[in-house]
Amino acid sequence: MAWHPLLPETELPEGAMRAAEAAGVRLVLCRHRGRVHAFEDRCPHANGPLTGGNFADGRLICPWHAWEFLCETGALDFNPAIVLRRFPVRCQDGMILVDA
Ligand code: FES
Repeated sequence: MAWHPLLPETELPEGAMRAAEAAGVRLVLCRHRGRVHAFEDRCPHANGPLTGGNFADGRLICPWHAWEFLCETGALDFNPAIVLRRFPVRCQDGMILVDA
């Protein structure tokens, strides 16, 4: 794993979701309550692209069958045993970096 600069912090304001890619992995980035979260952009239900869905109230909502994942944990709301693949994030010199 290595740290990859993805985008300026200003491009991910509070409540926003963005697509990105690092080390050949498609990612979904989101910011909730000031914190940036990064997950693989793949729903564990049937591999739907989370970036094609919505991000509201700290929940990533899959566009295919509306499963909702809590961004603070990555867990599916109705079954916390199902969790998105999370990547470490840090912010440095105004950039968002992901360890992938
Ligand atoms: S593929 Fe995401 S809810 Fe079905």
